[in-house]
Amino acid sequence: MARNAGAESLRRVVVSEEEIRARVAALGAEITAYYPEGEDLLVLGLLKGSFIFMADLVRAIRRPLHLDFLVASSYGMESSSSGQVELRYDPDTSFRDRHVLVVEDIVDSGTTLRSLVPGLLERGPRSVEVCALLHKRLAAPEPEVRWVGFDCPDEFVVGYGLDHAENFRHLPFIGSL
Ligand code: IMP
Ligand code: MG
Repeated sequence: MARNAGAESLRRVVVSEEEIRARVAALGAEITAYYPEGEDLLVLGLLKGSFIFMADLVRAIRRPLHLDFLVASSYGMESSSSGQVELRYDPDTSFRDRHVLVVEDIVDSGTTLRSLVPGLLERGPRSVEVCALLHKRLAAPEPEVRWVGFDCPDEFVVGYGLDHAENFRHLPFIGSL
């Protein structure tokens, strides 16, 4: 832990590197099996939180795919949800007749996905599914999430892409503050 700058201020490790590695491999296999061969898949990562998960997940998916990113921000520098989702980067990639797989770091209030997915569906994709690394199971109503890496305790977690005020994203495991 000492070699990970900042990690000493964490309360505990919530998901270890080894657990993440095994779960990402399993998710990759499930996603590979789910989508019919010969149909286009676009994997769409929500930045910045999903960047490490996205990089590992696409390497565990054994089929042709394209990838792009969206920037949707609901938090600013605070650690409680503002309820507002702002699209700061929106790719011009066509969704028409492609399966779109949204990759999210964590589902907390569900606000991000509830406000994002309907807009994606309007762009004519063949399907829209969500794969979230973590799910706090607090969202009401729950957005539809087909794949979840881990259920997450109701604590503020950081690492493996997740931040607190832009810190801790680089940690290779998930810890709580
Ligand atoms: P939601 O819209 O409330 O579901 O929250 C979605 C976004 O809030 C996530 O994509 C994260 O960026 C951020 N977030 C929610 N909970 C946490 C947490 O425990 N740690 C770090 N970021 C979080
Ligand atoms: Mg965030």
